[in-house]
Amino acid sequence: MDRIVVHRSGPLHGEVVVPGAKNSVLKLMVGSLFAAGEHRLSNVPDISDVRTMGSLLGSLGIDVTYRPESHELILVNSGGIGSNAPSEQVESIRASINVLGPLLACCGRVRLDMPGGDDFGSRPIDMHIAGLSAMGAEFDTAVDHIEAVAEHLRGADITLDFPSVGATENIVCAAVHADGVTTLRNAAREPEVADLCELLVEMGARIDGIGSSVVVIEGVARGSLHPVSHAVVNDRIQAATYMAAAAVTGGDVMVRGARADHMQMFLRKISDMGVDVIPSSDGVRVTASGRLRNVDVQTLPYPGVATDYKPLLVTMMAVAEGVGVMTENLYPGRFRYVEELSKLGADIRTDGHHAIVHGVDQLRGAAVVAPDIRAGAALVVAGLVADGRTIISGLEHVERGYDDLLGRLGALGAHIEPAP
Ligand code: EPU
Repeated sequence: MDRIVVHRSGPLHGEVVVPGAKNSVLKLMVGSLFAAGEHRLSNVPDISDVRTMGSLLGSLGIDVTYRPESHELILVNSGGIGSNAPSEQVESIRASINVLGPLLACCGRVRLDMPGGDDFGSRPIDMHIAGLSAMGAEFDTAVDHIEAVAEHLRGADITLDFPSVGATENIVCAAVHADGVTTLRNAAREPEVADLCELLVEMGARIDGIGSSVVVIEGVARGSLHPVSHAVVNDRIQAATYMAAAAVTGGDVMVRGARADHMQMFLRKISDMGVDVIPSSDGVRVTASGRLRNVDVQTLPYPGVATDYKPLLVTMMAVAEGVGVMTENLYPGRFRYVEELSKLGADIRTDGHHAIVHGVDQLRGAAVVAPDIRAGAALVVAGLVADGRTIISGLEHVERGYDDLLGRLGALGAHIEPAP
């Protein structure tokens, strides 16, 4: 579906099950490069980025089969993997950079084109390169590609300038087969990073400090890891999307599988906005009635408010009472959806990396374009409380990261249909 019509929908009610996380599964898939044999992942979301990563791994010699009915992915590594990643897939997803560390660890060399992904402005990879260079990799980078060689990676003491998710993952993966011990400081602590580390440990890697900012990896011999079955961690951003939809429509939704322990700052912020948040062992129930209140929010690395929640929070702020300021600290260019929300009548002014949001009484339907995955989902949420019809194009972005967003919202009472 390229274009949809979202109608103003009454309070959403019911229960929705959270799928596995895109930003985890794509990296877990790359884990299959480490060991010959059959790797199994469960709780795999049915999203186009999984298919793109499957095709990238296919070109490196991994046989990938997805079973949508059971949400299982089977990856068979028959040995003899390649180290040249083809441009077509690399250019379309950011997570393609995640083959860098594993291929260096397993093959001692890698060549890939510069990775793509959502356009939030410049997305450098200097920290990946600095960390891997400290371990002995030699890089030859050009504007359009990266080439690296390292016959023997060695353990190193590395401090990241910033807790980058991708750099942490690549350095941890490279360290799995490095000689000696690697200590990575100021590491990213996101649950998806921890999920990758846990998979590697299940496969036979030695990693301590998982989920903390100091991760210590003791290298083990190439060929000593073995395939495993692993369940992908649930997606905190998809979970947040259903919470935001419930909140703006004044609904009552049980988000089954949402991990409150992974979403603490987000839950605190929506609670400050007036949403009732009821965590349990099964998930998180959110209920809202009356108008939301505005708050100030800033995005930060985990456990701060993730930048990926931001378009959802700004949508909530756009209809909340009063004024709120959203400060983006990760991607200064990640405000492209503001223009689209403004077409729906939102009153938002951006100033550098701040967005000043004056809540309005009512959004009104208009034609808008989804600029990226999270912004697209946020526009769908906005459409649920806009008067009239909101026509959204660019849905292919949303399909990269959301497993049946429209069906799941529909089951909660949202009125969404294909655009004529
Ligand atoms: N950065 C550098 N140099 C580097 C690496 C990162 O300057 O070598 C900067 C980035 O430009 C950015 C900040 O550091 O300003 C954070 O980047 P990070 O490396 O943490 O992000 P990433 O690994 O490229 C992942 C997610 C993003 C998510 C960010 C932050 C995947 C595939 N992508 O990107 O997810 O926004 O972490 O949490 O895991 C999304 O799912 O929609 C998405 C964009």
